[in-house]
Amino acid sequence: MADNRKRNKALSKKKQVSRKELVLFTRIKAVFCMFLFALAVVVCVKVVDGLRASNASATAPQSTGVPENNIAAQTVGDPTASVGAGDSSDDDPAVKDSGKNDADDKNSNGHKIEVVDGRTYIDGVIIANKSYSLPKDYDPGLNEKAAAAFDKMSADAYAEGISLFICSDYRSYSMQTELYNGYVSQYGKKKTDRFSARPGHSEHQTGFAMDINDASDDFIGTPEAKWLEEHCTNYGFIIRYKKEKESITGFKYEPWHIRYLGVELAKKVEASGLCLEEYFGIDSVYKEDKE
Ligand code: DAL
Ligand code: ZN
Repeated sequence: MADNRKRNKALSKKKQVSRKELVLFTRIKAVFCMFLFALAVVVCVKVVDGLRASNASATAPQSTGVPENNIAAQTVGDPTASVGAGDSSDDDPAVKDSGKNDADDKNSNGHKIEVVDGRTYIDGVIIANKSYSLPKDYDPGLNEKAAAAFDKMSADAYAEGISLFICSDYRSYSMQTELYNGYVSQYGKKKTDRFSARPGHSEHQTGFAMDINDASDDFIGTPEAKWLEEHCTNYGFIIRYKKEKESITGFKYEPWHIRYLGVELAKKVEASGLCLEEYFGIDSVYKEDKE
């Protein structure tokens, strides 16, 4: 009997020990699981952060070397005219001396000239004329601010009984090539150069230019032409190729061709009585015509 009691006591002690071990093991397991869970959370957070960072760098605009506000001006529609980088003017040391993609200088008139990826900006205004060209692959489409300014202008004109519509706005390099070559085969190069820009030299490729109603001499003197000339600066446009400035712009009178510069600059240019080339102190001559 006594032996039996001793054995039972020993057995019950053993059971108590193994129960304690079980509890301890369960606790260790729980702590380990919590640790694993915390580790997994930390890893997930790091992975998500990493993905976000790589997405951001993939979608961020590439640095162009032009101040942010100028790029905004270009893409959102602020004033700008450019001095062709591809055809750098011999008369313009700032452009001529750049010799590389990005240049930053002032011309003799004190205007800041920047060349960015083959495009020239003066005081932040993208320029396309006979001296200054745009790269083949520069393909911005019609500028949104310019389009919105036109919508407002045409609505106001309509309220006064004047109907304005766009007959040509953004033209890509290849569209301008087709147009120009078509005119050359019809009229010859010399005559064509008086009214149609060579590929890369058209202001239409900047996305800031529009032809209104009728891009022909029939538009001259119409009530629409008069209204446009009188009011367009209030909406940020200038008549780009004026009659008395043909020898400076290099193009014949085009009262239908408007260029968006933003209200402030458009009014300044108009008030100065100068064309854009004179205002910025640049020229508009094809390289071969200078030689
Ligand atoms: N008609 C203007 C000059 C152009 O072709 O861009
Ligand atoms: Zn035009």
